Amino acid sequence: MTEIPEHLLKRSAERKAALSGEAPAADAGSSTAVEPAATAAPAVAAAPVPDVVPEPPARVAPYVEAYEGRKKMPFWIIPVLLTLPIWAAMYVGTLERVPQGLTGLLGEGEELYVESGCSGCHGAEGGGGIGPALSDGAVHATFTSIEDQIVWIAQGSAIVGTGNLYSSADSPRPRAVAGQMPGFGGESASPLDMEQLLAVTLYERTQLEPVEELASRDLILTEQMDLLIETGEIETSLEASGLSLHDVVNGDGLTADMVAAYLAPARAGLVEGEG
Ligand code: HEC
Repeated sequence: MTEIPEHLLKRSAERKAALSGEAPAADAGSSTAVEPAATAAPAVAAAPVPDVVPEPPARVAPYVEAYEGRKKMPFWIIPVLLTLPIWAAMYVGTLERVPQGLTGLLGEGEELYVESGCSGCHGAEGGGGIGPALSDGAVHATFTSIEDQIVWIAQGSAIVGTGNLYSSADSPRPRAVAGQMPGFGGESASPLDMEQLLAVTLYERTQLEPVEELASRDLILTEQMDLLIETGEIETSLEASGLSLHDVVNGDGLTADMVAAYLAPARAGLVEGEG
């Protein structure tokens, strides 16, 4: 058995006495080693004893120790977490429009609508953004004829000129240029050829358009055009128009009449089919 050192016994006795408010006189009896003279003095100064008792060395609580010793978050995690909402928004953006499994001109138009940047300005669903909305009948209201729409997409805001009308002449809702849509004709750095202009236009008029009545004529034209392309008849039938399927035409040289001639073979087939 190890003996408890005397100074500890004494301190304990003093502490007890201080807590109970008694003079530690009894000490003298319990601790034989303590001299009477030494015990007499604290009896007088019973009150200040707690001040004298040295505080035990500060021990770190186990949970504090665990906190300090744990693996900390790496310093770069905050900026990474801050970008998370941006990622989330981009991810949701990609989900917005599920590919429809479209084929032919409409499939091509669906791809071009994203690849040529149309969706960036007009929204994946055509709901609008930097550019106006193309959904809910907007396009059919602006362009009563598909020819006018193709000419517009080839020309863009710069060629038409700010303040000038770009909508069809008989549009119930005339539209003047107030923004900066790039043209996609021959002047463009990445121009669309005649087939691509037609494809993206048909896509907008039929797929961003929930009103069946409005889209139906364009859908029939699409079918006819697809048929002519599939059978290879298109090149011979286009001869009269002077335009070939993959011609790139400058926006400022393209007219609605030229596009009408280009679409005439498909329209002729349409009439035959109807008759
Ligand atoms: C940089 C943004 C931008 C891009 C890219 C863009 N547009 Fe536009 N678009 C506009 C703006 C702005 C207008 C309105 C015209 C104006 O005020 O200059 C517009 C108007 C239109 C309109 C007429 C809509 C209406 O009812 O008034 C159609 C159709 C259209 N764009 C189709 C397209 C197609 C197709 C593409 C891709 C091949 C495309 N846009 C790419 C900005 C853009």
